[in-house]
Amino acid sequence: MNIELFLKQLREYWLENTVPNVSDVNVRFLRDLIKVSKTKNMLEIWTANWFSGINFAIELKKNNWKLTTIDFSPKSHNEALENFKIAEVENIITAILWNALDEIPKLQDDFFDFIFIDGMKKRSGEFLELCLPKAKTWSIIIIDDVLKFKDKMTTLRDYLERIKIKYNIIPIDIDDWILMIIKD
Ligand SMILES: C[S@@+](CC[C@H](N)C(=O)[O-])C[C@H]1O[C@@H](n2cnc3c(N)ncnc32)[C@H](O)[C@@H]1O
Repeated sequence: MNIELFLKQLREYWLENTVPNVSDVNVRFLRDLIKVSKTKNMLEIWTANWFSGINFAIELKKNNWKLTTIDFSPKSHNEALENFKIAEVENIITAILWNALDEIPKLQDDFFDFIFIDGMKKRSGEFLELCLPKAKTWSIIIIDDVLKFKDKMTTLRDYLERIKIKYNIIPIDIDDWILMIIKD
C-alpha cells in the first residue's frame, strides 16, 4: 500500500472530523529529527487516530525501532489499532489504552530517546514532569502547540521556571510552535 497516500487520507478525515492532529510542517520536522537522532525507543503521549504515530512509525520501522503510545479514548485507540494495521507498522508499536497520568510512571526509567507530548494542554507541565525520568541523557523531548495553546499551558510554564531547565521554542510552523528540550 502507498503509506503516504494513506496518511493524506487520514489528514482529510481529520479535516472532516476535527481530530486535532499535529500539523504537516511539524510532523515532517519530527520525522527528520527521528532520523538524525537515530531514535530507538520513542514515547508518544496522546495518540488520537494515529496520524502522528504512523508518521513516526514509518521512520522507526526502517530500523525496527519502537514506538510506545498512550491514549485514554477507546474510540481513538480502536481506530488507531486499525490504522496501524493498514499502514503495516503495528509490529513496532505498543499501544496503551489508559490515562497517561497513571501509565507513564509504570514505564521504564532512562529508556526513551525521543518523547512527544501532544494533548490536554493545561496539564502539559505534569506530563513533562512524569516523562523526564523516562528519558535518557541527550534525549529529545518535544511539546506541541506551545503558541496556539499558550494561554492554557500555565502548568508547563510554572514547571519550566521551577526546574530551570534549558529549552528552545522553535517556530517551525507559523502558527503552531514546538518546545524542544534536550535532556542533560
Ligand atoms: C491532540 S490529540 C493527539 C493528536 C496526535 N498526537 C496526532 O497528531 O495525530 C489529543 C489526544 O489526547 C488524548 N488524551 C487527553 N488526555 C489524556 C490522558 N490523560 N491520558 C491519555 N490520553 C489523553 C485524547 O483522547 C486525544 O485523542
